Amino acid sequence: MMKILDQIEEASPAISYAGLLERIEILRSTLRWSSRLERGDIDKLLRQATSLRDEVMQLSHKERFVQAAVAAEPQERVELSRGARRKALLERSFIFEGTFGDNPRLLESLEIAEKAAPTDLPVLIDGESGTGKELMAKVVHANGSRSDKPFISVNCGAIPDNLLESELFGHRKGAFTGASNDRKGKFESAHTGTIFLDEIGELPLAGQVKLLRVLEAHEIQRVGSDETIAVDTRIVAATNRNLRQLSEEGRFREDLFYRLSVIHVTLPPLRERRDEIPLLIAWFGDEAAGSLKRRPIRLTPRLRDFLLNYAYPGNIRELRNVMYRLSCLAGDMADIDHLPVDMRLAAPGSAAASTNASGQEPISVANLMSLSDAKRAASDDAEKAFLERGLREVSGTVAELARRIDMNRSHLQMLLKKHGLHSKDFRNRHAPAATKSDDDEDSDA
Ligand SMILES: Nc1ncnc2c1ncn2[C@@H]1O[C@H](COP(=O)(O)OP(=O)(O)OP(=O)(O)O)[C@@H](O)[C@H]1O
Ligand SMILES: [Mg+2]
Repeated sequence: MMKILDQIEEASPAISYAGLLERIEILRSTLRWSSRLERGDIDKLLRQATSLRDEVMQLSHKERFVQAAVAAEPQERVELSRGARRKALLERSFIFEGTFGDNPRLLESLEIAEKAAPTDLPVLIDGESGTGKELMAKVVHANGSRSDKPFISVNCGAIPDNLLESELFGHRKGAFTGASNDRKGKFESAHTGTIFLDEIGELPLAGQVKLLRVLEAHEIQRVGSDETIAVDTRIVAATNRNLRQLSEEGRFREDLFYRLSVIHVTLPPLRERRDEIPLLIAWFGDEAAGSLKRRPIRLTPRLRDFLLNYAYPGNIRELRNVMYRLSCLAGDMADIDHLPVDMRLAAPGSAAASTNASGQEPISVANLMSLSDAKRAASDDAEKAFLERGLREVSGTVAELARRIDMNRSHLQMLLKKHGLHSKDFRNRHAPAATKSDDDEDSDA
């Protein structure tokens, strides 16, 4: 507790919103997690709150002053065009690491990354799967002072709970069965560099406590060891979950959330930056052609139309993958048929396609089938068509059909019921009536 208070006291005098936010959040966490406060602690917290308020006032005063100065400058355009914003980043020697696009929301993320990179503040990146979170983490690393130091990536969701601590913090020989040697963890490997904690929302509560300690004290302990080891590691975390919600549900420590999210970058899903799709199609089309050593693929108008309107639940990764797939499977010209089945089912005119009355609305994710659903639907259709053809051939005699297709009769009855097929609908009016037993069994089909 006092350790946290002291840390706030030591904070650098330089004023920045990020710094202020961090200190406000630490203050909030301190209050939330303290079981009992002494009078002295309360006075100290109040003093800190007052000084924070003064700094906020000063900062906002300074900002208004700067804005007024900019507005007074007749030549200066406050609103820069997208191209100019991207160019400005380039001119400031920003490293994009292959991040492509100039949608305002993406540019905003890049500009935040640019400001955050040279600091050692933790960065939390969230966004749906495939929106470029890992790429953004690399952007933060590459533009910071640690760029020539290690960038160590850990997928918190991929490591079994019981190995996670040892993976992150290392272990001492004999700490647990299988620990046959001393081993250093990812934090030590990332010393002086950056550690990328991917899928941080999957970190179990025990690991969260340990991580909080690293953030506060910049030291770790290997599993099974009392010795503390100082680590100087910049933390960038990513998640496709809503950490705020997880913390409300008690599954993610709130204090850790605030600590990690001093700088919070949210990457927009591709369907919210559709304006970039044509450029990304061209970009990944060229990239795929280069890597497959072929000429860039051409797209039929209906495929292009489809790709421009598709919902991309897998975001940029999905678009990139599909351009590679088309480049690999199609000859000169790619068409809808070259798309993967699950995507194709969302094409206009197919059973799963969903557009509004005008046919203009993009297909929503909720209306897209998963691949396994699509397979199941296709297999059901085939089954039904097979049974209908069979019933027609035997003029609706279930016993005969069961014999011909070598299937147990009651099983066949069940299948007919499932598909809503009635054997009497297939009976030939001029043919002799079906046997009594058939009629009995089929009566309610
Ligand atoms: N803006 C972008 N420009 C170019 N390529 C991009 C961009 N965003 C993402 N990509 C590419 O898309 C793929 C997915 O990106 P990345 O792995 O960073 O996503 P992610 O958000 O970490 O996904 P997941 O949640 O599934 O781990 C990568 O191949 C990446 O290079
Ligand atoms: Mg990722």
